Amino acid sequence: MHEGLKALPPFTFSLRTKIRFGSGVRSDLPEAVEAAHWKKIGVVIDHQIIDLETFKGLLSDLEAAGSRLTVEACRISEPTYASLDKARQSFADRELDAMIGIGGGSALDMAKAMAVLVHNREPALAYRGFDKMAEPVLPIIAVPTTAGTGSEVTPNASFIDDQAKKKLGINGEAVRPMLAFLDPELTVTCPMGPTVSAAADSVVHAVEAYMAQKTNPMARTLAREGVRRVFAALPRVVENLSDLSAREDVMFGAFLSGLALMHSGTGPAAALSYPLGVHYGVPHGLGGAIFLPSVIEYNIEQGVYDYGDLVPGLSGTAEEMARLFLDRLTALWEMLDIPRDLGRFGLSSAGVETFISDTMELKGALDQNPAPFGEKQARTIVERLINN
Ligand SMILES: [Fe+2]
Repeated sequence: MHEGLKALPPFTFSLRTKIRFGSGVRSDLPEAVEAAHWKKIGVVIDHQIIDLETFKGLLSDLEAAGSRLTVEACRISEPTYASLDKARQSFADRELDAMIGIGGGSALDMAKAMAVLVHNREPALAYRGFDKMAEPVLPIIAVPTTAGTGSEVTPNASFIDDQAKKKLGINGEAVRPMLAFLDPELTVTCPMGPTVSAAADSVVHAVEAYMAQKTNPMARTLAREGVRRVFAALPRVVENLSDLSAREDVMFGAFLSGLALMHSGTGPAAALSYPLGVHYGVPHGLGGAIFLPSVIEYNIEQGVYDYGDLVPGLSGTAEEMARLFLDRLTALWEMLDIPRDLGRFGLSSAGVETFISDTMELKGALDQNPAPFGEKQARTIVERLINN
């Protein structure tokens, strides 16, 4: 049912990150750093972009404005706790004032962890969980170069514990960026694979935030606009990665979806993506995208039809509209070449038990699903996708 037909439930909304959005806003970064009186800055930047003129220019502008930079390249697509302990050595004893992350979700998450580990001296694993930091955390500035992860506004940073084969974050209000520069021009350099994975991640955020048990009118409004923009503009980006106006729409839509997620909950598709990342190396966004249609299909079978309200222009009964939404999503996924089978990543029936038990550890996310979702439902979906 459209929430406008119900009495408005109470909700709380706050945005603690100061956002600068728009093509070219990166040029305001030196001024913002100066205004905050930050002199010594740590920078974590994705190694794939470090030599591009745009980013060399950004770093030299910071230096020209008086910042002293300590730069570390993020070379890993899914950072591990071991990689954090290695990277932190570059930032030790530098008396840093702030940390800037430039890159995709991994570089931003690594910057968040570095901001923690400068003054919190235990091994990185000690800070896994929520609010485990006893010492101050440096202020964080996020400069995303992909559109979709939402990391620029979330109080989370995810890492893999490769000993325990678990993915768990360093989380807490202190790791939420204080400032974020969302400059769509920076996403033009993002290649097809990460562009698709990040944008698909944003769609998972929006759809699951929209459907979560704890959704609210604010999250729903943001999710609707987020999905609408990404659905409309992503095909144009895929056709021409340099289409700046399409990149702007995708970045704005993905940002709105990140806000929706932050003010609601996640769901089964996000939960199922974690074991796929930890055991099979599938990027988080792509993982969630693989599972999302199956979760929607299951929910529709259970009589959950709210999906029809997510994009404008659908008509019919509530069930028909929900199925039309699923058709739209499936068509977009086909265009983006989102895989439909898990076998190609090496997951076979032998791996299903571990996969399911790892998924069940994220019971909090599963419980957000509008219809009951437990081991049985997870197993049905995974087995079906193995045999596709
Ligand atoms: Fe995500």
